[in-house]
Amino acid sequence: MTTETDPPRVALVTGAAKGIGRATVHILVQQGFRVVAVDSCAGSGTERGEGVDYALATPDQLLSLESEYPGLVHAQIVDVRDARALAAAGKFAVDEFGRLDAAVAAAAVIVGGYPVWETPESHLHTLLDVDVVGVWNTASATVPLMLTGPDPQGCRFVALASAAGTRGLFHLAGYTVAKHAVVGLVRGLAADLIGTGVTAVAVSPGSTDTDMLQATAGLYDLDQINEFSSSQLLRRLLRPEEIAATIAFCCSKEGAVLNGSIVDASGGFTA
Ligand SMILES: NC(=O)c1ccc[n+]([C@@H]2O[C@H](COP(=O)([O-])OP(=O)(O)OC[C@H]3O[C@@H](n4cnc5c(N)ncnc54)[C@H](O)[C@@H]3O)[C@@H](O)[C@H]2O)c1
Repeated sequence: MTTETDPPRVALVTGAAKGIGRATVHILVQQGFRVVAVDSCAGSGTERGEGVDYALATPDQLLSLESEYPGLVHAQIVDVRDARALAAAGKFAVDEFGRLDAAVAAAAVIVGGYPVWETPESHLHTLLDVDVVGVWNTASATVPLMLTGPDPQGCRFVALASAAGTRGLFHLAGYTVAKHAVVGLVRGLAADLIGTGVTAVAVSPGSTDTDMLQATAGLYDLDQINEFSSSQLLRRLLRPEEIAATIAFCCSKEGAVLNGSIVDASGGFTA
């Protein structure tokens, strides 16, 4: 429970310019957090990674969060593959806002469209570098700041996994490998954090209406992303705000009970 007299809690969110990461920034600010919003803002540039054939966020998209929440959100253009830059972003959070209480690793890319045996090795490397090493780097940059901060008992690390973290998805074996690895990373991190008060959890969304899902539809030659609704018992796409609400609970002090778990936010995808 946080009271009005407590100092504001502080979060670092990666993949913050678009989709689920952006919705997470909104809800955390509404709940009283100060936020360092991190995104690579690679747009349509080659630095997105081999095989990424859709546009990532632009600098304007990330910086608009600062204008929307002056003094409450600071933007940092950082690629999660760059461990040193991420460490600097974590330090920036502490220098600017005085502490770090939560980290949300939402940055990722999707690459696929082929069976394993026809998938270029470079595509697998992109997925491992961004979706796995990026989450690892985020944990390495933020967890030490939580352990040495004023309230380790209230500190939370939250990684975005996927329904692909627990089952195989057609023509998305590399993404499936990467998201299973995120699940393993969170479980290993939770084990390392034993008794410290800092906790780690993964959130696994189902099909959520974002640009990544649009890109996934392209990989399957689907005309409409709504076609993904049929794989969820809810029979509709999820909204980024719905996933962000789950992530925000994971970031709360009460979220401690979820330590080490994989929170299924799939609307029944995996039921
Ligand atoms: N949308 C879905 O249906 C869905 C389903 C399951 C899991 N997820 C997961 O949820 C998370 C968010 O997905 P989304 O749908 O919001 O995606 P999105 O593509 O809408 O947003 C991802 C953000 O990450 C940023 N990003 C990409 N590579 C980066 C890098 N190297 N460094 C820093 N930032 C980078 C992009 O610029 C973008 O702003 C991802 O981890 C994704 O795998 C999404």
